[in-house]
Amino acid sequence: MNLWFLALWITLVKAWVVNQGTTCTLYPEALALKGQVVDDAPSIQQAFDMCGTNGTVIFTKNVFHVNTVLNTTNLLNCDVHLRGELRFSDNIPYWRTHAISVVLQNQVTAWLFGGINVNFYGEGGFYNGQGQAWYNANKNESNQPGRPMSITFYNSTNLLVDRLRIIQPQFWATFVWDSKNVSVTNLFVNATSNSKWGTMNTDGYDSWKSDTLLVENATIINGDDCIAAKGNTTNLYAKNISCEGGTGVTIGSIGQYPDTPDYNLNTTFENVKVKNSMDGAYIKTWQGTQIYTPSNGDWGGGGTGLVKNITFRNFEMENVGLPIQLSQCVYSAGTNKGCNTSTLQIEDVKWQNIRGTSRFNIASSIYCSDECPCPNITFDNVNITSVNATRGLPFYGTDIQHELFQCTNIIGQNDSGIPCNQAAPSNFSQWIYGNVGNQGLATLT
Ligand SMILES: *[C@@H]1O[C@H](CO)[C@@H](O)[C@H](O)[C@H]1NC(C)=O
Ligand SMILES: *[C@@H]1O[C@H](CO)[C@@H](O)[C@H](O)[C@H]1NC(C)=O
Ligand SMILES: *[C@@H]1O[C@H](CO)[C@@H](O)[C@H](O)[C@H]1NC(C)=O
Ligand SMILES: *[C@@H]1O[C@H](CO)[C@@H](O)[C@H](O)[C@H]1NC(C)=O
Ligand SMILES: *[C@@H]1O[C@H](CO)[C@@H](O)[C@H](O)[C@H]1NC(C)=O
Ligand SMILES: *[C@@H]1O[C@H](CO)[C@@H](O)[C@H](O)[C@H]1NC(C)=O
Ligand SMILES: *[C@@H]1O[C@H](CO)[C@@H](O)[C@H](O)[C@H]1NC(C)=O
Ligand SMILES: *[C@@H]1O[C@H](CO)[C@@H](O)[C@H](O)[C@H]1NC(C)=O
Ligand SMILES: *[C@@H]1O[C@H](CO)[C@@H](O)[C@H](O)[C@H]1NC(C)=O
Ligand SMILES: *[C@@H]1O[C@H](CO)[C@@H](O)[C@H](O)[C@H]1NC(C)=O
Ligand SMILES: *[C@@H]1O[C@H](CO)[C@@H](O)[C@H](O)[C@H]1NC(C)=O
Ligand SMILES: *[C@@H]1O[C@H](CO)[C@@H](O)[C@H](O)[C@H]1NC(C)=O
Repeated sequence: MNLWFLALWITLVKAWVVNQGTTCTLYPEALALKGQVVDDAPSIQQAFDMCGTNGTVIFTKNVFHVNTVLNTTNLLNCDVHLRGELRFSDNIPYWRTHAISVVLQNQVTAWLFGGINVNFYGEGGFYNGQGQAWYNANKNESNQPGRPMSITFYNSTNLLVDRLRIIQPQFWATFVWDSKNVSVTNLFVNATSNSKWGTMNTDGYDSWKSDTLLVENATIINGDDCIAAKGNTTNLYAKNISCEGGTGVTIGSIGQYPDTPDYNLNTTFENVKVKNSMDGAYIKTWQGTQIYTPSNGDWGGGGTGLVKNITFRNFEMENVGLPIQLSQCVYSAGTNKGCNTSTLQIEDVKWQNIRGTSRFNIASSIYCSDECPCPNITFDNVNITSVNATRGLPFYGTDIQHELFQCTNIIGQNDSGIPCNQAAPSNFSQWIYGNVGNQGLATLT
């Protein structure tokens, strides 16, 4: 064995962060311990401490065990190369008590990541959230306390995340918070449950209090929002997105907190395919009064703000429950508590070139509150037909045998381009399980 190789080998087995100049190369502890699993989070943290400013962090092609939280923020001019697997532990009691707060809805994250001029490249590596344990523990409820988002991009400016792959996310897969100029390209997320419990809350990409965001080329297979622009998301451009199984792309939910109004301006979703999903392209706000909503971990409602200049363009829907929706009381819908009270203004929203199939006899439900009717809501070339109609099969349980376009409180409805043929009820939920009848309400299972 030549001496150089021997020296390198000794470095490898002794130090799990190999530091050469401004580059830190990471190896898992298990390599030195005959496969015995040891938490690699301390060495990961050390690599970012050493090379997070003007440096490079490389995860080699190995399995890294992440058993404790990661906080790798305040990076500066840093490149990250993920070539191995980051396997997050499914020690639920640990994460519930240690995951890092992201403030919004009292939620938490397993990894807080960010900085200025940072590039994160997924080079064949992936993030394994081992989410099955979380799906089973969650039992189809929503927002279980302490259930961590996989990775949160925080306090960042000029961040590129390219080719990140997240499988079995614990909760929301990616979250952009308090950031500006963040591009997430070629993202892949797959949350698929192998038990009787679903993958509720495994959102693919959510953003909050962030500006100038790009999502380009994403494939998201999950059980909740594919992409959700939450409060104060501005200038988000999402293009070439494929969503399967969840609840489509949305603005919201917003209007949860009275003290912090939500301004969601200038967002375009373009070239989106939504398949086998509950919802397609929609906007959801809370009602105008505060209601304790344990399923969202908090009180909710009463928030104001403005949603303006939103475009949903070039969508292909396939077997979608409610392809197009605007709701102003999405969390009190079932109970009808305080529906019709939202003062969050929604205007200039366009659905353009939307085609495909709905699962039931409804294409769209646009409900603006009495308090805040919506101006300039338009459909341009929207053609949705029910899967049953396209298959020449009958509708069941209702005498309505055509596609419904529900409308309430749309200012200038006659010029909207929406073929309104039924009033949208205030208490229509985003969850729909059957055809809609004469009263405008969906059959519930
Ligand atoms: C990092 O690089 C910037 C710009 O090149 C330089 O101004 C700064 O001093 C460097 N910081 C460190 C800690 O080397
Ligand atoms: C995360 O690390 C930064 C230093 O980079 C520190 O200022 C901050 O308090 C840490 N946050 C948490 C939640 O530990
Ligand atoms: C956010 O990043 C800036 C650098 O742009 C830094 O000065 C500040 O301390 C960071 N804030 C937090 C809360 O980490
Ligand atoms: C998603 O994960 C499930 C379960 O592991 C797997 O069967 C399926 O093939 C995956 N989908 C893709 C597109 O990788
Ligand atoms: C949980 O929700 C999923 C997705 O909606 C559904 O397929 C599954 O049947 C539900 N499980 C139970 C036990 O209700
Ligand atoms: C998105 O995918 C298209 C088609 O594969 C490719 O041409 C384009 O470069 C990709 N965009 C990015 C930012 O990687
Ligand atoms: C949104 O921004 C406005 C100021 O533009 C601010 O008043 C409000 O509190 C912010 N909302 C949130 C959720 O941060
Ligand atoms: C609306 O937002 C789009 C980006 O989504 C932007 O290109 C356009 O200029 C905005 N229009 C107005 C009137 O602000
Ligand atoms: C919305 O887009 C328009 C046109 O590009 C721009 O003038 C305006 O500043 C944007 N609004 C926000 C909140 O960024
Ligand atoms: C209606 O919205 C479109 C963008 O969707 C915008 O270009 C137009 O100026 C708006 N019209 C009015 C009357 O506000
Ligand atoms: C709407 O789509 C259906 C099914 O794809 C098609 O048969 C029909 O011609 C389309 N209608 C219009 C007006 O384009
Ligand atoms: C669609 O048709 C199938 C087969 O006839 C039937 O079982 C199903 O209930 C129908 N769905 C709706 C929404 O009417």
